[in-house]
Formats: sequence, structure tokens, C-alpha cells
Amino acid sequence: MTIILQGVLAPEDIARVRGELSEIAFIDGKRTAGAAARGVKQNLQADGSDPKAHALERFVVDALRRHPLFEFAARPARLTRLLFSRYEPGMTYGAHTDDALMGPADDKLRTDLAFTLFLEDSSKYEGGALVIDSALGEQEIKLEAGDAIVYPAGSIHYVAPVTSGARLAAVGWIESFVPEAGKREILFDLSVTRDRLAAAGVARDELLRLDKSISNLLRMWAR
Ligand code: NI
Repeated sequence: MTIILQGVLAPEDIARVRGELSEIAFIDGKRTAGAAARGVKQNLQADGSDPKAHALERFVVDALRRHPLFEFAARPARLTRLLFSRYEPGMTYGAHTDDALMGPADDKLRTDLAFTLFLEDSSKYEGGALVIDSALGEQEIKLEAGDAIVYPAGSIHYVAPVTSGARLAAVGWIESFVPEAGKREILFDLSVTRDRLAAAGVARDELLRLDKSISNLLRMWAR
């Protein structure tokens, strides 16, 4: 299941992120690629050793965690550091699958889900779609600035070549408390339904039994 999160960043937040990124050096993206992806990865990434990058990552992750659907979509236990990437004309990230384990040697996490938060207006560049191979065929994702997609890190995916302008995005990976996609989807559906029923004014007593079921499924499945 892939889930689109709209409006993770408001226009003023995007302006702030872009402004701060303009003060950080961008380096060859191959430096953070796993062995399998190194040969097909051609992009630039904000230098993660710059303290300004750390602060910006926190700002973006806080916004992501505040989004009402993020918790339901991901059941996040831990997140990797964020990468801010830029693709200029001719740059691309060929078909690959993400490393299963990421992070420092003594603190690796399992990458159940990946996300891409788009930071540039789609009208400002050509190409640059995130293309995800799914059971239904290839899904082409090109979202508006401030919107994000959460998708299975174990899928085969690529970033189509940018032909004009520049594609700016933040990407990261999530270790989920519920690693199995099917179980996560059941919890997602139940939680979304629960919130819609609450918004429609269903009595608290009725919701309580649903809350109990969601909590107990989480207890059964979380690991
Ligand atoms: Ni990837």
C-alpha cells in the first residue's frame, strides 16, 4: 500500500526549507548509496555532516509526525536520518530496491517503508517522477511541493530523469512496529474509519469497542 500525505509542509515551511538548503553544500549522492544502488544513483544530496542539515531534518520530521495520516500509514518505531536530494537536468536514480538495514553499524534499523517529501512545485521541473513497481503495474508519482508519499522500501522503484529545472525532495526510511504490510493496512482502515465515525458524531461508547479492537490488534502485531 502506498499512501499520499497532503500538506505535510505549508507554503511558508517549504520556503524556509528551500532557503536553508540553499546554505548547505550539496555533494554526490553515491556517498550514501548501498552497494546495489551505487551504480544507478546520480543525484546530489545536502551534506549531512553540516549541523544546519540536522536542524532542518528535525523540522521536517516533526512536520511529518504531526500529519494526521502518518501514524496510521506507518506505525513508525524509528526513522533514519533524512536525505535532502536534488536532481538537475540529466540526473536520475535508476531502478533499485532499498537496503533492508540502514544506519550506523551499532544501531541499524529495518527499512519497512520509504518516503519522499516533494519540495519543488511540479510545474518548475520536467521529468523526475518517482516510479514504483506494484502489482498493478508502474505507479508514477509526482506530487506538489509539501506533499509526501509513503511506500514499501522493498519495492523496485526509480526516479525518472529530470529534463529541465531541478527536483528537490526529502527522503527517509521507517522501521514500523507492524512490519507486515497487510496487517498495517487493516490497522490503517480501522483507524481511519474510527476517526470518520468520531467526526460524524458516533457516541463514545460505540467507538470504545473499536478502540479496544485496534489497540488489541496492535498489541498482537507490534514487534
Ligand atoms: Ni530507493
